Amino acid sequence: MAKKKRCDDDASKALLWDESFSVRAQVLDKQHKGLFDIINQLRTACARDVEKKEVLGIIKSLYTYSATHFQDEEALLEKKVCILLGEQQSHHAIFLDYVINLEHKVNSNVESVDEEVLIFLDTWWKEHILKVDMQYSKFF
Ligand SMILES: [Fe+2]
Repeated sequence: MAKKKRCDDDASKALLWDESFSVRAQVLDKQHKGLFDIINQLRTACARDVEKKEVLGIIKSLYTYSATHFQDEEALLEKKVCILLGEQQSHHAIFLDYVINLEHKVNSNVESVDEEVLIFLDTWWKEHILKVDMQYSKFF
């Protein structure tokens, strides 16, 4: 019997950036696209059942890239729309915690990246950009 794939890398599942995600700040849009790319890389790696080392490398780059993006976004908000900073910071902290935990669990074989993890990442980013980040877009 064929082994069931943990993730589906059907093109329709890829996280694609389009104008509806634009927050009207070029640097942040570019970073959001980069984040979508990393999540898509993780989906492909999972579907191909690659070695744990490779999966951990992608999780680490997701952490580093997200942390840099959050810093840049918060710095811009600090300058322009301070009132929205607190909510952003708490959302960002929750995401980074999730990624650290994921890395830890994958590293210690408690969990592996599967469809559920990918759906969480997809949904988190879509909702974060469309509901939270969009609140500052009118100031740019
Ligand atoms: Fe944000």
